[in-house]
Amino acid sequence: MNRFVAIWFLGVALFFSGVGLESCDDGNIEEELNFSVKEGLVVKLTGGLKNMEQWNSEKYQIVVAAFAAKDSYPLLAKSLPIQADSQDFLFEGISPSCETIELCVLNLINKRVATLKTLYERSDEVSLDAKDTIYYHSDGLDVGMFPCIQSAIFTKRCAYCHGMGETPAAGLYLTEGNSYAALVNVPSKKLDSLKRVLPYDASHSMLYKVLTEYGEGCGWHYDHTKFFYGNTMSNLVKEWIESGSEQ
Ligand code: HEC
Repeated sequence: MNRFVAIWFLGVALFFSGVGLESCDDGNIEEELNFSVKEGLVVKLTGGLKNMEQWNSEKYQIVVAAFAAKDSYPLLAKSLPIQADSQDFLFEGISPSCETIELCVLNLINKRVATLKTLYERSDEVSLDAKDTIYYHSDGLDVGMFPCIQSAIFTKRCAYCHGMGETPAAGLYLTEGNSYAALVNVPSKKLDSLKRVLPYDASHSMLYKVLTEYGEGCGWHYDHTKFFYGNTMSNLVKEWIESGSEQ
């Protein structure tokens, strides 16, 4: 069974409360099944999402998902259909005890790859009751691969050496708004026979090499592979390059 479906069923089972037996006033022995499957928080999402079709749907899914604290695997997730200009999406039965509810990208093994928008975050000030509805109007939010790489990788882990200080390492800016032009079809400073990003070809792109190759004789002064535990992030970079490096 598809794991998304399995998670969904699990969630439904958790909130599948109240199979009640009621007898009628007139004394007839009549049993009524009282299903209330729709317990829990509801997310209503409207408005379009831009560049959703850039994601290979066999490898990634854009979902609304609920997470427990610090976990990269969701408690419950529902994927969004690919529709360029309109979304009208309803997700019910989310446990109010979850830590966050996010619009995010999951990979094949249901691991969160990038958060596109946090819709709810539990805190002392904000706590929701079961049956509360969270509304989000996405207003054409760009959910393309490159904006995800920028926010999940470059801004978080790279920009402080590549552009936020006085001189960017290797002359490479990875700050928001500058990174695309500094990467795609631009010769590598380290090895000018290579491009930093050569669309459709990760193995000849310095960006992918620097994130995946480090060892004796590689010539790097700085080990970039230590940023990544596992290959979720480098796979994302590879996937983006090999699908054409769109902006
Ligand atoms: C602690 C500082 C630091 C951080 C953080 C850092 N880098 Fe670097 N980066 C360097 C240095 C230094 C070089 C030059 C290495 C050399 O000459 O051996 C470099 C080189 C590169 C190059 C080669 C550029 C070229 O033109 O050849 C790329 C691509 C790159 N980094 C990408 C990244 C990415 C992506 C991240 C985040 C995942 C990142 N770097 C994080 C310091 C850093």
